[in-house]
Amino acid sequence: MQWNSFFAERTALLKRSPIRELLKFTTQPEVISFAGGLPAPELFPIDRIREAANTVLSKYGPEALQYSTTEGMPALRSFLAQRLSSDMLTVKPDNILIVTGSQQALDLIARVFLNEHDRVILENPTYLGMLQTCKPYDLTYLPVTSDCDGMRVDAIPDLLHQNPRLMYVVPNYQNPQGTTLGRKRRLELIQMLDQHPVPLVEDNPYGELRYTGEIEPSLLELDAQSLGIRALDGRVIYTSTFSKELSPGLRVGWIAAPMPVIDKLVEAKQSTDLHTSTFVQYIINEVVRDGFLDSHIATLRTVYRTSLKRSRGLVLQEVYS
Ligand SMILES: Cc1ncc(COP(=O)(O)O)c(C=O)c1O
Repeated sequence: MQWNSFFAERTALLKRSPIRELLKFTTQPEVISFAGGLPAPELFPIDRIREAANTVLSKYGPEALQYSTTEGMPALRSFLAQRLSSDMLTVKPDNILIVTGSQQALDLIARVFLNEHDRVILENPTYLGMLQTCKPYDLTYLPVTSDCDGMRVDAIPDLLHQNPRLMYVVPNYQNPQGTTLGRKRRLELIQMLDQHPVPLVEDNPYGELRYTGEIEPSLLELDAQSLGIRALDGRVIYTSTFSKELSPGLRVGWIAAPMPVIDKLVEAKQSTDLHTSTFVQYIINEVVRDGFLDSHIATLRTVYRTSLKRSRGLVLQEVYS
């Protein structure tokens, strides 16, 4: 059988992930690479996950092993809504969609927002998984370079005149550059949306792992502040993940977005995988409770601070030189 001649035409644009190729650079001793996005495996909270899995099976076995809603486990959505809420922003559980890793978030967002040949503003270089997601749409990229203060937002007004469909930003420890977008630039970026209201995807897997300096407010929060609203009803679609804080093998992430966006994303997700694993959502809900997530993140920050001081720049230089 000549299988290639039967594949749909759009599959000609699909390519295997180059991320897998990058991962070989991360096997060097003492290197924790954010370029490949691999968390340090010795920091996975294995005992806590084991206990949680046992508790879930003994207390909630039938529910945890059943089909569930596409939106995600209500208790986990509430937990995340509370975590994302701040004095600038109130996130409701309905604003949260649990997804199968933030890679799925990017895929669903692309499916909901992008038509073929659309223009998308993104950092250059950017997260390869996002580029892979965008491949089938044959997009025109409007690239923005970065310096030590993150994306050069002064280049964006010109790009906004080119009618982009979406803007994609990794504001903290950008993958692969490792840069963090400074406060002033965050504010400038959000203000630009007043003139040109383009959906801005904030992909933030590393924000909570910030190990030096202050944690900057999210673009999601600044957007609400700039619009003078507390509700999540602006122009930012936010995604993050438990991959870097607990373990990537769990494959659980989330999207926080205005309700009309969540509704559409739910429709897109339903046809993809019905819902993210009920069992794993139950386990995570059990793992994170009673302050465990915060104390675990504090440990990760300490370890990464020490390790990254030793290996700073090494992997990025090797991969991108
Ligand atoms: C910027 C960025 N976005 C998304 C992802 C995907 O993460 P997940 O494991 O949640 O799918 C990664 C993983 O490395 C990443 O670096």
